Amino acid sequence: MNILLLGSGGREHALAWKMSQSKKLDKLYIAPGNAGTAAVGENIDIDLSDFPAIKNLVKEKQINIVVVGPEQPLVDGISDFFDSDSELKKVALIGPSTIGAKLEGSKDFAKEFMQKYNIPTAKYQSFNKSTLQKGKKFLETLSPPYVLKADGLAAGKGVLILDDLNEAKISLEEMLNGQFGSASQTVVIEEFLDGIELSVFVITDGNSYKILPEAKDYKRIGEGDTGLNTGGMGAVSPVPFASKDFLDKVEERVIKPTVLGLKTEGIKYRGFIFLGLMNVKGEPFIIEYNVRMGDPETEVVIPRIKSDIVDLFEHTAQGTLSRAIIEIEERTCTTVMLVSKGYPEKYEKGKKMANLDKVTESQLFHAGTINDGSSIYTNGGRVIAISSYGKNMDEALQKSYKNAEIIEFEGKNYRKDIGFDLK
Ligand code: AMP
Ligand code: GLY
Repeated sequence: MNILLLGSGGREHALAWKMSQSKKLDKLYIAPGNAGTAAVGENIDIDLSDFPAIKNLVKEKQINIVVVGPEQPLVDGISDFFDSDSELKKVALIGPSTIGAKLEGSKDFAKEFMQKYNIPTAKYQSFNKSTLQKGKKFLETLSPPYVLKADGLAAGKGVLILDDLNEAKISLEEMLNGQFGSASQTVVIEEFLDGIELSVFVITDGNSYKILPEAKDYKRIGEGDTGLNTGGMGAVSPVPFASKDFLDKVEERVIKPTVLGLKTEGIKYRGFIFLGLMNVKGEPFIIEYNVRMGDPETEVVIPRIKSDIVDLFEHTAQGTLSRAIIEIEERTCTTVMLVSKGYPEKYEKGKKMANLDKVTESQLFHAGTINDGSSIYTNGGRVIAISSYGKNMDEALQKSYKNAEIIEFEGKNYRKDIGFDLK
């Protein structure tokens, strides 16, 4: 079987690494990929918004399954593009339909869905320019902090959490006046949930589902969860506070009604669901849906899946996921992300990397790297994820940190306290 994986981050390297171990795989292509994916498949430079070019590639390489890594092509409608093209109909695509992708692409849509299917979430209301005054009044009914969310995709920056009512009113106005472009034409205002976050991942064929290992990621740039938000600086799986009792609640109250809701709505969904959850005194609330895997969560979740992931994708595509078997690794997996100097603001690229070959006891997942034929250079803000197994979190982290010191490039930065709140 030939597989095309779309994307170029650490998530995609982890997926590619796992797929490359499958006996079912003949040839793996990654578009556009990075220096890490090039070692487990063939990179093809392609613009992910150019669906006709993706179609040509699929035909030329006789691709059987397309796995979509990031959300943008899904929100842009790649699944419907495949379904409506007679030449692509037989090609399986792992990722939801355009309407399914709205669970991530529109927070207003997602909240309405959660409410309709009684999935526990923060109370909310949505506003647009014509209801600005009502929005301000609604803010007055809430207690601080105030949570304001741009409805659409805003590169992870569209959520503001503010302590002051006046500031919240001003921010609401600014957002509706285009602070995040068209993404904030509608703004969701919601109740603040006080708890501890984690992510649970699910793969579904629209009927049945399999729960993948849960993870916790560390989004802030600075130790102690301080400073600017990033794509993610590290992750841990399993999550110690995610007890069986808690995860059972997640399954009953969030996962089952989500999958049933999609089915009831007639929304075609064959792919990953990423549940961003808040544990509020032992009760799960959903903060957000994403329609893809998380990054860097994938770099700890995928290593904990022992079963053949290509087999899982095949069952997902064929609608036979209930027959699939998923075996989970008992050991803990941690990842530490090395980032470029300046990230998440303006950062430098093109720094030569050294000592990648000296890494032992960890698996490297490249995020922003490029290979010029003789050396590997940094090519992004997040550069490389160092994933390690351990019999517990400390042992796994020790290995990740040992290798974080060994790998070198100018301006290397990383958080030294991944998992600090879980000890
Ligand atoms: P989102 O893009 O919806 O995941 O929001 C970004 C981050 O804002 C989340 O990861 C949470 O840390 C925080 N957040 C979002 N909604 C809430 C809420 N209702 N209460 C508390 N924190 C929230
Ligand atoms: N690490 C968070 C995300 O992938 O959205």
